[in-house]
Amino acid sequence: MSNSARSPRTISILSGKGGVGKSVVAFNLADAMARQGAKVLLVDADFGCGNQHLLANVAVEFGIGEYASRQVPLREAVTTLAGGVDLLASTWNETLGEARDVTFTAKLLQRIHSDARNYDFILIDHASGRSNQAAMMAHASDIALLLVIPELTSLSDGYGLYKHLLSLGDSVDCGLVINRAQNSDEATFIAEQFQLLTERFMGRPIAALAAIPEDESVRRSIGAQSPLAQIDSQSAACQAITQFATVLLQASEFGNSSPNTIKNDTATADTRG
Ligand SMILES: Nc1ncnc2c1ncn2[C@@H]1O[C@H](COP(=O)(O)OP(=O)(O)OP(=O)(O)O)[C@@H](O)[C@H]1O
Ligand SMILES: [Mg+2]
Repeated sequence: MSNSARSPRTISILSGKGGVGKSVVAFNLADAMARQGAKVLLVDADFGCGNQHLLANVAVEFGIGEYASRQVPLREAVTTLAGGVDLLASTWNETLGEARDVTFTAKLLQRIHSDARNYDFILIDHASGRSNQAAMMAHASDIALLLVIPELTSLSDGYGLYKHLLSLGDSVDCGLVINRAQNSDEATFIAEQFQLLTERFMGRPIAALAAIPEDESVRRSIGAQSPLAQIDSQSAACQAITQFATVLLQASEFGNSSPNTIKNDTATADTRG
């Protein structure tokens, strides 16, 4: 897969509550997509606190700070990771102080999008919470992935973030990703509850796109600072992420912005409800 004529698809990964696995999932999803032939730009948008470079074990000279301040162009601001992903790492620069201003963020994203024309996907790892910056980027993305874990606080904050996203406009295409599920019954239960609640109170049921199991291989891969595919490609978490990457790639091949329209994929079968 290589993008010659089309513009890249932008995928935002966000969550209401922090620490639910956005960065780990973004890192491994980007790696899985690249291993399947896509050209992927992974953007660490957790300005100042990002850790994609730690997960990948790379020392970065430049990153989003230098790119935002126009010190270097995109091709010099990225660091190419072992699996082929280009990382626009989180480096701090005073320019990013303005990122709280949504107009600045909108322009930055627009610039990334136009400079990243030779990529198939731009995957954005956000800071957690209901910030206007993340919400604006989610609205500007082709797909927003709302990550939750099976805990009341994560579900409640995730619901709040979804409500916030819809309050800013109903054009956002947002799907649910359940991380750290103990088993498929738990993932199905959460998907159904979330769908019921969002349908009943917002008139807009959220589709569950994937479930990633709780898996000890995730901790091992973080410790080894390597993608799951290198540490334990047969692990349940790696398989789920790889399948989800396939779904996203196929949706893109068929010209769909959202993977919701793919009906028979095993990665989503458990959670679609
Ligand atoms: N599927 C999983 N199985 C087991 N552990 C997991 C899984 N996903 C995430 N974790 C654990 O959760 C921790 C937090 O993950 P991560 O840093 O990606 O969260 P985050 O949402 O990006 O946090 P922040 O909001 O601070 O940016 C990881 O260090 C890892 O130990
Ligand atoms: Mg993170």
